[in-house]
Amino acid sequence: MKLAELHAHLEGTAPPALIQKLADRNGLSVPDGVFETPEKFKWVDFLDFLRTYDLAASVIRTQQDYRDITYEYLVACAAEGSIYHELIVSPDHAAAVGLSDEAHYEAIAQGIDDARADTGIEARMLVVAIRNFGVERAVQIARDHAEERHPYVVGFNLAGDEAGYPPAQFREAYEIAAASGLGCTVHAGEHAGAESVREALTLPITRISHGVRAIEDPALVAEIVERGIVLEACPTSNIATRVFDSYEEHPLRKLHEAGVNLTLGSDDPPYFGCSIGGEYAVARERFGFEEGELQSITRTAVRASFADDAAKATLL
Ligand code: ADE
Ligand code: ZN
Repeated sequence: MKLAELHAHLEGTAPPALIQKLADRNGLSVPDGVFETPEKFKWVDFLDFLRTYDLAASVIRTQQDYRDITYEYLVACAAEGSIYHELIVSPDHAAAVGLSDEAHYEAIAQGIDDARADTGIEARMLVVAIRNFGVERAVQIARDHAEERHPYVVGFNLAGDEAGYPPAQFREAYEIAAASGLGCTVHAGEHAGAESVREALTLPITRISHGVRAIEDPALVAEIVERGIVLEACPTSNIATRVFDSYEEHPLRKLHEAGVNLTLGSDDPPYFGCSIGGEYAVARERFGFEEGELQSITRTAVRASFADDAAKATLL
């Protein structure tokens, strides 16, 4: 069974042990409040999770660090049967530790190349703007990637505090990114409801990161189906951050039955206690997806990926 994932945040893939190792290697202490135990990140709600994420990411400093995080994540995913990943990479986190965009992407690309050489797995990068750093910064990031960019940078995403910063505020950034040929997706319908997904649909996007709260509005679900918009669903992330109380309440199956094109993602696996293999198992065991349906989820991910056609053709 082949798996694929379009939605994982690169800094958010590093487990506590790796964060501790990078801190030690860089002569730093892991900031207070990052770990609940040596094996577990500490956070109480979504905004606290975002704070912990930034603190943990602050010890990721060097090109070697970014290469190692990428390599370790992809090799672990390959061991679960995964063939393709889109890694959400953050110029803001790189800039915060003094890494240029070029150095950042070169390091991640090295991790991708090394993981491919050792396991056959393939991956690309989606550059992300963090909403809470403001509209101007998002426009700047889109402009910075509009003309010249690393060939593995294939898409643009928007993450961070959805409830405080609705999608439509970022229209200019999306228009620049889309016009430059980047594939576009946006976090919406996670910590804000159907109105946020509706707004997201006014941007030049072909996918939505999460999007699952579209279920609140049947006409919106119908529009998503009609337009062939792909949702990057991350059910365990949604339970962990209390978007839904339980898998029983999660609309994954209902969205599938309504005809929505779905993919599966782990989002920030060690924070939410999941993995891409685990999300496929959850889909099978908690949502009743059969093998054929799971394979079609993987095909949807490859089709909806922002990689070029030659790379896609090697995957399925
Ligand atoms: N940054 C990292 N994980 C995120 C998520 N699930 N939603 C929004 N921003 C994020
Ligand atoms: Zn996400």
